[in-house]
Amino acid sequence: MDTEIQKALDQARQQLEKIENQTELNGLYVSLFGKNSALSKLTKQISTLPKAQRPKAGQQINLAKKELEKLFEQTKSRLSARRTEFKSYIDVTAPGKKAQIGHLHLVSQAIEEIVEIFAKLGFNLQSYPEIDWDFYAFESLNMPADHPARDEWETFFIKGKPNPKLGSQVLTPHTSNGQVREMERVKKPPVRMINIARCYRRQIDISHTPMFHQFEGLLIDRDISIPDLKGTFDFFTTNFFGPQRVTRLRPFHFRFTEPSFEVDVICGVCQGRGCRSCKSGWMELGGAGMIHPKVLRNGGFDAGKYSGFAFGWGVERTIAMKVNVPDIRLLYQNDLRFLEQF
Ligand code: FA5
Repeated sequence: MDTEIQKALDQARQQLEKIENQTELNGLYVSLFGKNSALSKLTKQISTLPKAQRPKAGQQINLAKKELEKLFEQTKSRLSARRTEFKSYIDVTAPGKKAQIGHLHLVSQAIEEIVEIFAKLGFNLQSYPEIDWDFYAFESLNMPADHPARDEWETFFIKGKPNPKLGSQVLTPHTSNGQVREMERVKKPPVRMINIARCYRRQIDISHTPMFHQFEGLLIDRDISIPDLKGTFDFFTTNFFGPQRVTRLRPFHFRFTEPSFEVDVICGVCQGRGCRSCKSGWMELGGAGMIHPKVLRNGGFDAGKYSGFAFGWGVERTIAMKVNVPDIRLLYQNDLRFLEQF
């Protein structure tokens, strides 16, 4: 029995020496101390020994069990000492890993800047529906149903029952739907509105996206004339693009302004001399004009007493001109390599 007890103890010692963590140690507990452990089996064999040898064998097994418990506890302490050692490797004073923080999208940055510049001239920010009635998007702007001028707005129509007075619903193809709405809201001049919103058209190429933003300005008061419009545009472009970046007006036609213009800003690369990116020395910003008397009347204003100007320019194209984005679709591809540059 002596040698067997010693063998069981040696085997357990070897097993415990190999233990690397608490989970392994827990797993070993049953095989060392459970019903089927080597020492328990030897205990059961005591009754088969001659009577005289039994007390001694019992004593030896008890001593071996105590020894084993000691070895078990020593292994436990060895593991916990190692855990403390690991902990001391963690330097709590070292700087942590910083979470990556994004920034506003280029289009949102441009919108903030545009709002700020026009605020300096007293224009206040308004927003109007992105899904609007035909009346506000076209009819009230002197574009009756079936007028061919509407084709240029390549509109998305919403299915549904038309309103008897306001017509069907559309995804707004321009922010000019806010013109008569603003007049209805304010009721009488002065009006100084800047309306920035998403617009939708069935268009896509390097300078068109199906969803884009426009900023629409509307100013109505007594004695407003073209020099007021030109002065406002120069104030905006020199603030947004930099000094020297003045505007020019080219005659154009819109049904809701008379006279109407396309507004160009002088090219920042060649300062008006003409280069590869602009060709003529000028870059197009968008449309503008003096508000048509019919539109003023549709908004409930006396066209004999008041006059005003309006303009509507694309945010994407305006910002693309400032930071030289060759294809405005890049703004909406969510490519971080592009977005992180701004
Ligand atoms: C208009 O939308 C008129 N409502 C502008 C206006 C307002 C004129 C007030 C007079 C008075 P136009 O269709 O040209 O005009 O669009 C104006 C600008 O919107 C364009 O110069 C361009 O910068 C931008 N734009 C138009 N379509 C798109 C598009 N699909 N993607 C990106 N930008 C666009």
